[in-house]
Amino acid sequence: MELSTVIEERRSVRHYNNKKLERKTVEDILKYAIMSPSAKNRQPWYFVVVEDQNKKESIADLLEQKSSDEVKMTCNVMRECSTLVLVFADIEDMIMDVVSVGASIENMILRARDLDVASLWIGFILKIEEELKKEFNLNKRLVSCIALGYTDHFPSKRPRKTLFEVSEWH
Ligand SMILES: Cc1cc2nc3c(=O)[nH]c(=O)nc-3n(C[C@H](O)[C@H](O)[C@H](O)COP(=O)(O)O)c2cc1C
Repeated sequence: MELSTVIEERRSVRHYNNKKLERKTVEDILKYAIMSPSAKNRQPWYFVVVEDQNKKESIADLLEQKSSDEVKMTCNVMRECSTLVLVFADIEDMIMDVVSVGASIENMILRARDLDVASLWIGFILKIEEELKKEFNLNKRLVSCIALGYTDHFPSKRPRKTLFEVSEWH
């Protein structure tokens, strides 16, 4: 796909089918993630890939226990998707390193769309940062979680503010 088409067609997907992602597809997506620019080329990202259904469910259950009802839909996505990528960071400079990891996540979800793989960027996961650091024995900050999988239906476009509302020119 053209880059412009990939950007236009990417969506947050909250319904997945049963088809599993192959390991080589996940590796391909992560290879694009690590091509991202990063402050001082620190490459502060670290990805934990969770494919095991029981593990995905126990992460989703834990998140659901600690959350209000608005998080339930996200927990179901975590159970339903093929693969969860937990995104951690080594933080030396909070803004620079988190922005760098954000760039790697954007590359990840764009490459996914390019391969017809659906994704959801999950921020609610931060509610269980301490538990996940302990579970995976990592002394890093949790930044986000990305659900990946196949879908029968990419939803329609969500609305955006106009360029006029979010920019000024001098
Ligand atoms: C940092 C970040 C955190 C997000 N966290 C969640 C989340 O926890 N659950 C969820 O359903 N969507 C989450 N989203 C997806 C947004 O809701 C979505 O991007 C937005 O509504 C626009 O829709 P679109 O991605 O389809 O264009 C998150 C997106 C970003 C960038």
